[in-house]
Amino acid sequence: MLSAKIKEQTTGSHRLLESHPLFASLNGRFDEQQYQLLLHKLYTYYSELEKQYVPFFLDQPLLEIEKRQRAHILEKDRANRPQRVTLSANQKLSLPVLDSIWKATGALYVIEGSTLGGKFICQSLAQIGIDPSNGAAYFSGYGEETGKMWKSFLQFLNEVATTEEQEQEVITTAEQVFSTLYNWLGRND
Ligand code: HEM
Repeated sequence: MLSAKIKEQTTGSHRLLESHPLFASLNGRFDEQQYQLLLHKLYTYYSELEKQYVPFFLDQPLLEIEKRQRAHILEKDRANRPQRVTLSANQKLSLPVLDSIWKATGALYVIEGSTLGGKFICQSLAQIGIDPSNGAAYFSGYGEETGKMWKSFLQFLNEVATTEEQEQEVITTAEQVFSTLYNWLGRND
């Protein structure tokens, strides 16, 4: 099944991304400036990516794509932090071009999967008083519905591709999203 293949083939990229200093800093050595930088970076990346993939899913009612949009939650989290840190915003973002439903699905896989790890990040943030009301709404995923939302996404994922080439397109794009996001987080100019 595609869900097993994509997980296996992107494990290394996932590991690299989760070890990025901006994520690592959430565990133990919390720093407000770094946290706001992370929210800002995720917001800019997600909003550009969403603009590309959402249109491909508007005619898939079971997927409930309107519920799966995350960028506006990141923006709210940033606005909900007690003091705002000034960040430079003149960076050039490089994203994969999503010009087929398979590429769009590869991108959505990465963004939806991030709700699973979010649960653990949320637990760390809760220990220092950051909860969904004051900056951790994004990392809380879909709350108690996270498992259900992931399951319905996997069902879609396992039905969307009918050829090897289409499956490869999904997997390659997921890899590109992991790597372009990693590069984007890494730039602090
Ligand atoms: C500190 C940061 C992160 C941690 C600790 C983390 C941890 C995890 C964990 C434990 C799972 C497995 C959950 C389960 O099977 O129930 C998971 C799944 C996943 N995470 Fe992360 N994650 C992190 C960041 C991210 C980010 C930033 C993304 C993408 C933007 C991401 C994408 C995924 C994907 C796609 C899966 C699903 C893998 C699959 O089962 O196919 N993760 N993560």
